[in-house]
Amino acid sequence: MNLCNLEALVPQYVRQFEAYIPSPPDDELQQMFGCSRLIRMNNNENPLGPPPAAAAFLQSFDPALVSRYPSGDCRPLRARLADYLGVTPSQVILGNGANEVIAFVIKAFCQQGDNIVTADRTFAVYEWIARFSGVDARLAPLNDFGFDEEGLLARVDSRTKLVFICNPNNPTGTWWSRDRLIRFMERLGPNHIVVLDEAYAEFMDQPDYPDGISLLSRFPNLIIFRTFSKMYALAGLRIGYLVGTEQVTDIVRKTAIVYSVNTLAQSAALAALGDQTFITATRSLVQEGQQMLAAQCAELKLPILTSDCNFAMIKLPFSDTLAYRLLMQQGYMVRTMTGFRFPGWIRVSIAGREAMQGFCTALSRLVHSRTDQSPLAKVYGVF
Ligand SMILES: Cc1ncc(COP(=O)(O)O)c(C=O)c1O
Repeated sequence: MNLCNLEALVPQYVRQFEAYIPSPPDDELQQMFGCSRLIRMNNNENPLGPPPAAAAFLQSFDPALVSRYPSGDCRPLRARLADYLGVTPSQVILGNGANEVIAFVIKAFCQQGDNIVTADRTFAVYEWIARFSGVDARLAPLNDFGFDEEGLLARVDSRTKLVFICNPNNPTGTWWSRDRLIRFMERLGPNHIVVLDEAYAEFMDQPDYPDGISLLSRFPNLIIFRTFSKMYALAGLRIGYLVGTEQVTDIVRKTAIVYSVNTLAQSAALAALGDQTFITATRSLVQEGQQMLAAQCAELKLPILTSDCNFAMIKLPFSDTLAYRLLMQQGYMVRTMTGFRFPGWIRVSIAGREAMQGFCTALSRLVHSRTDQSPLAKVYGVF
């Protein structure tokens, strides 16, 4: 049987959208680039692996349990999170990664003709989900690598349902202070929802970094996103959540997919939550890695954006896609930033000490190979 005119079934905004292509598995990449081992520094993962209690749970997990469905609304974990965050369980909604939670919120508030407002160079999934849902994404240029209050406000109109603020911003690491956030909320007013994406909140060690949840009573139009993928090193289990007022979560719950968070993810997150020793160890590893990168970039005269987050952006004097290929050949995978509107930049996730040392050496060889006659330059030519 022939399929009918398939295109005719597809909404215009889906037809126009280009699918995201994730990177192939490590073994394929190693074969493609001829490297014997691969260190992934492209997804801001925590190299320490999960906190000990989560690792112990995973090791002792009884496989027989996977024949049963998980708690459909993550009840035990929501109770624990509520206690930890000082909110009620019904103020928390979990999803299959914070990515899924973004979709819940856009589906709950937006219809065709509506828009969301965010920055042009931030976590791209807000824009992508809006666009393939037929919702306009209005993008305010970053100002000095940070979210620009004026630019965002200028793009808000009566059809703006959601304003997404990534705090700290992935990929630039910049962030709004508590005062700045409050000023923005007051200027915006109560007629739009502000989503504060705090995926990297647990890395932040600055006294005036705002905890969005503490502002909920003052600004009930706030929604806060968090994830277990970054600090808690559970990216492979896919679990993230949002916190809002009960009025708001009662609405978002309508578009939240039940049973989408699996049994392992729920219990591992329960075990991991609030492990301060682990958080402190991760923060010091990140700080050390950031310092190593900054020192290496200073030596190579490369501009770098560092922060408390577990990633940094580096500006190269040549193409980022070329740098990607050449670093891959040396076994280091970084994120090229041209597709994220930062041509010539790479984003590097902080890895363990040995990997950071290796990466710094690889970066140095790469930069020097442009000008001198090192063996690498002979292999790659001048680029
Ligand atoms: C700012 C930001 N928000 C959300 C996410 C999505 O996280 P998750 O792995 O929970 O889907 C990421 C992941 O990179 C992120 O950087």
